Amino acid sequence: MKRMIVAPSILSANFLNLEADLKIVNENADIIHLDIMDGVFVPNLSYGTPVIKAITKVAKLPVEAHLMVVEPQKFYKTYKELGISSISVHYEACTHLDRDINLIKELEMKAGVAINPHTDESVLKNIIRVIDYVVVMSVNPGFGGQSYIPYSTEKIERVKELIEKYNPECKIEIDGGVSLDNIESIAKAGGDIVVAGNSVFGSKDPAQTIRELQGINR
Ligand code: DX5
Ligand code: ZN
Repeated sequence: MKRMIVAPSILSANFLNLEADLKIVNENADIIHLDIMDGVFVPNLSYGTPVIKAITKVAKLPVEAHLMVVEPQKFYKTYKELGISSISVHYEACTHLDRDINLIKELEMKAGVAINPHTDESVLKNIIRVIDYVVVMSVNPGFGGQSYIPYSTEKIERVKELIEKYNPECKIEIDGGVSLDNIESIAKAGGDIVVAGNSVFGSKDPAQTIRELQGINR
């Protein structure tokens, strides 16, 4: 049995006191999740290079970037230089997805593919053989604090089947609306990594919440 890997989303942290929230994450979590939004692929903007640079400078954990942007290839080299260790791009944003994955891997970062809630997992059948992780979006990307879309759980099971068939090393990350109320079913369906924003930073004791999420076996 392995325990759940927890990646708090900094989007829900207190931007007026990021240092304090990053300390909690550094001391308790497994991965730091950065949500990058361009106002084009998703109807919202988040933060850019100066903020990422400040975060990676103090990060004691691997930092992953979730690129909710069109033309993500503009950022791979810069992110590598800033110390990012994994990048996920959206299936829906990349016409030449295989090329994007190769570019990320050539820079010696882990490469993931994120799929929106409505996207059928069968689109992963080819690319899954060469990626390090799949990000199953369990909310429509663009905002933190949304509710988990219940049909995501069955999708996790189907992604797991694809992984077992084509690339057993590939991990499944679940992003959006993850909480202590649904993490057990996510783990049971095959989730390896959970992104958690609101459920961590909106809780009374974020460190304790991270530890409770980690306490779930998968
Ligand atoms: C949604 C982002 C998520 C989100 C997670 O566009 O990709 O990472 O901020 O936050 P919660 O856990 O609040 O849904
Ligand atoms: Zn995300």
